[in-house]
Amino acid sequence: MARKPLMAGNWKMNLNHVEAVGLVQKLAWTLEDKKHDPEKSEVIVLPPYTDLRTVQTLVDGDRLDIGYGAQDVSAFDNGAYTGDISADMLVKLGCRYVVIGHSERRQFHGEDDNIVNAKTQKAVSRGLVPIVCVGEGLEVRQELRHVPETLHQVEGALAGLTPEQVANLVIAYEPVWAIGTGRVATPEDAQEVCGAIRLWIVEQHGGEIADRTRILYGGSVKASSIAALMAEPDIDGCLVGGASLIVEEFAAIARFYEMPVI
Ligand code: PGA
Repeated sequence: MARKPLMAGNWKMNLNHVEAVGLVQKLAWTLEDKKHDPEKSEVIVLPPYTDLRTVQTLVDGDRLDIGYGAQDVSAFDNGAYTGDISADMLVKLGCRYVVIGHSERRQFHGEDDNIVNAKTQKAVSRGLVPIVCVGEGLEVRQELRHVPETLHQVEGALAGLTPEQVANLVIAYEPVWAIGTGRVATPEDAQEVCGAIRLWIVEQHGGEIADRTRILYGGSVKASSIAALMAEPDIDGCLVGGASLIVEEFAAIARFYEMPVI
C-alpha cells in the first residue's frame, strides 16, 4: 500500500482566529487555482487551540479539502489540569491530528519521553492521529550520535503501542538544529534518520506495518528544498513551520510533485 504524502503546517504560536480564516481561505483558493491533486498530497494545518473552532467551521462550511489538528494534547482525560486541553475536546472540534513531543514542548515545557508516550497513548485511544516528533540537538549531531539518539526517542514515544497503532500514526523527524534556523538538513541526512526509523519499525513490528507508517521530515523546509527531500524513499511528507505561514510557499510545498528535483 502506497503511503500518501502528508504536508502539515505547524503554525506554532502565530495567527489569531481572525487571521486563521484569512490564511485557510487563501490556502484553499490557491490549491484550487493551482489544481492541487489531493491524492498526491494531504494538506493539513495545525493552528493554536484558540483558532480550532473557527477553522472547523470554515472547513466544514465551505467543504474544504484541508485537514487540521492541534499542536499538543493532555495525557489526562479531564479534571484539575489548569491550562490543558483533552483529547476528547480536540475530537469534538473535528481534529484528526495532534502534534506530540515537539522539540519546543520538550525544551520549554520539560516534556520527556514518558510524557510523550502518555500523550501518544491517550491520543490513539481517542482515535486521533499523533504526529510524534523526534530529533537530535546540534551537539549530538556533531558527535555523530543522531541515529541512536533519535531511535531512543522513537522507542520511548511508541512504547506499549500495538503494531496497528504504529502503522496509523505519523513520526516527524525534526533535528533541533534545523528548526527555525534556515538550516535545512540535506536530503541524505534526513533520509539517513528517516530510513533508520523505518528499519526500527520493521525490526519491532515487521515490514507490513513499517510500510504503512508515515515518516515526515521537519526543519526549515521551503518550497525550494521540498522536491529533493520528497525524492528520498523514506520521507513521506514534511512538518513545516515558518513556511506554512506564507500561503504561496506552503501551497508550493503541497504541490511538490510538480517540482523538478534540483
Ligand atoms: P520550521 O519549523 O519549518 O520553521 O523550521 C518546523 C517545526 O518546528 O515543526
